[in-house]
Amino acid sequence: MRSVLFRRPDRAAPPPLDLGRRLRECDEFFALPELAGAPPDRRRRARDELRRTGTYTHTSDEILIGAQLAWRNHARCVGRKFWKALALIDARHLTSAPELAEACWQHLSAATNGGAIRCLLTVGPPRDADGREFRILSSQLIRYAGYRRPDGTVLGDPGNTRATDLAQRLGWRGAGTPFDVLPLLIRTPEGAVHWFEVPPELVREVDIEHPEFGWFPELELKWHALPAVSNMDLEIGGVTYPFAPFNGWYMGAEIGARNLSDTDRYDMLPAIADRMDLDRSADRTMWRDQALVELNRAVLYSFQRSGVRIVDHHTAARQFCEHVEREAAAGRRCPTDWTWVNPPLSSGLTPTFHRYFDPPDPELRPAFAHRAES
Ligand code: ARG
Repeated sequence: MRSVLFRRPDRAAPPPLDLGRRLRECDEFFALPELAGAPPDRRRRARDELRRTGTYTHTSDEILIGAQLAWRNHARCVGRKFWKALALIDARHLTSAPELAEACWQHLSAATNGGAIRCLLTVGPPRDADGREFRILSSQLIRYAGYRRPDGTVLGDPGNTRATDLAQRLGWRGAGTPFDVLPLLIRTPEGAVHWFEVPPELVREVDIEHPEFGWFPELELKWHALPAVSNMDLEIGGVTYPFAPFNGWYMGAEIGARNLSDTDRYDMLPAIADRMDLDRSADRTMWRDQALVELNRAVLYSFQRSGVRIVDHHTAARQFCEHVEREAAAGRRCPTDWTWVNPPLSSGLTPTFHRYFDPPDPELRPAFAHRAES
């Protein structure tokens, strides 16, 4: 099922392609040691085609290597130890939104893998020389709707009210629960936006229970197993792939210390504290902190119990430090955003807190980059 909305004609066009910069990125890409296996004239051929036509065609191998490096380069990601394990679905040949939605369903199935989450990237058509592109407007393949109520409160995930408004304007109607999965929104090169209901059997979810608190299921909390980011451009060697959903597995704190606890998300700490009979009369009773720890225990416990891969923040931080050391041993820097790799709870208990890192480098390519326009 799908519906269409045309882009307003006054909408800003994508910025003009800077060919000089793209040629430089192409040169730099094929000069990387990881590309040493390419044929000797590959760099020259790619460069010629890029100069002549404004773009060029990667091999699947080049995209896979480029994407692995884009992950390895991503300063905000604490999970980078596993960059080599990223696999690719090459969907560049697809030419319509329904076909691309189908590729996203295959991605969900292959990546979820019955709970044994696999790191996966699906790549659709690159932006063409005129800046035309297919693009996923949804921030992730799976997101919960947030319905604005007249009194200003939100039913569901307040982080997704804009996407929910858009889906509703397109004709989508959710069931009206706090965890309705939003449809996938795909914009075509012509500017039409299509929506596709995510097949429910592909959305693995985990009901949140607690190892000791028998009342926890009464909160009726759950979360989806797969974090599949879908609104970042993949930039490789002067070519941009705007359609490039990718996933790893969750770190528990993303759910327990952000999605379910931030005051501008599900804001569950007061309800949990009340069930725990904590004293909420003052900040210094630390009711928030106590509730937060129990919520995070519940998330990790529930994912593990239902057989869905997840990592706790202590293990993730240790793995990241191992990664940084391995990179140093290979003679590479590891640009890192300290504020992002430290977990949102108990950061001082993890090794990432007690050291500094190479500073982030926004010019580094290949890269997963946030879009100029959304
Ligand atoms: N923080 C985002 C979320 O909670 C997901 C970002 C990617 N996370 C990951 N583990 N790969 O949905």
